[in-house]
Amino acid sequence: MRLTPQQQQQFDHDGYLFFPGLFTPEETGALTAAVPALYDRREAYNVREKDSEAVRTNFAAHMYSEPFARLARHPRMIQPVEDLLGEKLYMHQFKINGKMAFEGDVWQWHQDYGTWLNDDLMPTERAMNVAIFLDDVNEFNGPLMFIRGSHKKGVLQARHDLRTTSYPLWTVDNDLIRQLVERSGGKGGYDADGRPVGGGIVSPKGPAGSMILFHSCLVHASTSNLSPFNRVSVYLSLCAVSNHIRRHKRPEYIAHRDFTPISCLPDDCLRKHYPVDLPWESGLPASALQTSLEEFESTLVTP
Ligand code: SIN
Ligand code: MN
Repeated sequence: MRLTPQQQQQFDHDGYLFFPGLFTPEETGALTAAVPALYDRREAYNVREKDSEAVRTNFAAHMYSEPFARLARHPRMIQPVEDLLGEKLYMHQFKINGKMAFEGDVWQWHQDYGTWLNDDLMPTERAMNVAIFLDDVNEFNGPLMFIRGSHKKGVLQARHDLRTTSYPLWTVDNDLIRQLVERSGGKGGYDADGRPVGGGIVSPKGPAGSMILFHSCLVHASTSNLSPFNRVSVYLSLCAVSNHIRRHKRPEYIAHRDFTPISCLPDDCLRKHYPVDLPWESGLPASALQTSLEEFESTLVTP
């Protein structure tokens, strides 16, 4: 799937693009069905919510689960990002976020690139997030919130929050969030039908199978899920190959170390069987848990 010049312009302006219902229920079915068994595993790659058994985030399923390995090579997700970054991509991070009914906790305001820079030494912001909803996302189950156009501000000052949730994150302070929202439209207003318009915070909602592309500097957050509806979503973090990380401070199942460009499968890869590699199918290798504070030079040979 390729982006039109108009979509590219909209992305540049807003910092995200939303594609409601891009994948059919038939296509998302095998993914959704695989999640409970993945979440049941007692493995380092399942991070549970604070004081709860509910999975907050599962890492690297594309390395050990066949349907997710196929999703990770889907042209509807990979090609638009190749268009936007103008380069081949590798998988920096792959998550299945639970945000489970009643249990799913907040994600504080942050930029993903803040974490990738501070922890992984990713040289520039030339990386992108792609989200796929595996459940319907509505105003009740903690949808993502974006500050429209905030990616234009580049890398913002951030604080390493190790306390609020079970997962460490480089978060942006409330004062700065207030300013960014004000600059993008504040509270906004309402149209003749009572629908909110023009505000600085936007929140794409839609059926399972919807996709969002968003810039690595776009400031985002989500509230807790007090509803009885799960909000499982998959996030691919795709990085331009030449922009690969320069430090392995975080384990490999969180920040990947294989910078091989992704080759797409055909567009029907979620409906038909295509063989895929599952290198961690029989368990995480010891190397995937190792970490280092050492900074390394790029060994990529660029033409
Ligand atoms: C994230 O920002 O990485 C996750 C946010 C969410 O799942 O709501
Ligand atoms: Mn994020």
